[in-house]
Amino acid sequence: MIVEPARAKLNLALHVRRRRADGYHELETLFAFVALGDEVRLGGEGEGLRVTGPFAPALGDTADNLVTRAAVAFASRFGLDTIPPIELVKHLPVASGIGGGSADAAATLRALARHCGRAPDDPALFEIAAALGSDVPACLLGRTALGRGRGEALEPLAGLPPRAVLLVNPGVAVSTAEVFRRWDGIDRGPLPDGEALEAAQCGRNDLEAPACAVAPVIADVLGRLAEQPGALLVRMSGSGATCFALYDSAAACAAAAAAIRTARPRWWCAETILA
Ligand code: C5P
Repeated sequence: MIVEPARAKLNLALHVRRRRADGYHELETLFAFVALGDEVRLGGEGEGLRVTGPFAPALGDTADNLVTRAAVAFASRFGLDTIPPIELVKHLPVASGIGGGSADAAATLRALARHCGRAPDDPALFEIAAALGSDVPACLLGRTALGRGRGEALEPLAGLPPRAVLLVNPGVAVSTAEVFRRWDGIDRGPLPDGEALEAAQCGRNDLEAPACAVAPVIADVLGRLAEQPGALLVRMSGSGATCFALYDSAAACAAAAAAIRTARPRWWCAETILA
């Protein structure tokens, strides 16, 4: 059996620069990854796609799952007659801005590439990834990177130290398309230059305001995270609703997690590290 991690992605910063004629938005974003994620297992028991794990029920109908679409696209591109059975172990909340579906699709492409003896950096895999979704190429690369275009034009950056990360999701699924639609059209400027964390600290997520308009609880999440001591950066990821805080100290991260779990026991709250 081939097992591939599908690590969650964070947008340390996300600057929306302009609306494009094709309906997408031109971005500048800093992608980073954490150790926590879903898992794709290729070649086990059964047939087709089986979804397990704590967030399996939230995923609903598996037929249109990005994993299946990735597998079908891979098979048609590379002439693979039979797709081995796939198990997706779902640990990440769905539609939550941390690239769960995109990371799952990317892990499926990596697993199938291994199955067929293809290199994980085959440019054809990146073409398939870009057709599946704007964040799938970044998840296929799986390392700290600057993303431009709709997020698919990538420039790898020096990795970040394994800092502690707290992820908090208030349990609302947010539509990426709707959040982008509500962006006010004001270009607030490019990402600052420099080392990724410093650039992120001086940067923004321009989707925070429109996401808070769609789901006001996100402002509460950001506020609670900002109240806890010791964070290097507090921000929403992607189009939300998951927000994160980065810490130098694992103890500060654990203390913030404990405080938020006590105040909001229904929120999903996960401690991990940058990977
Ligand atoms: O590429 P993906 O399918 O993940 O995008 C989902 C939706 O998010 C798109 O249909 C589009 O409405 C919006 N989007 C956007 N600009 C981007 C990425 C996504 O407007 N750069």
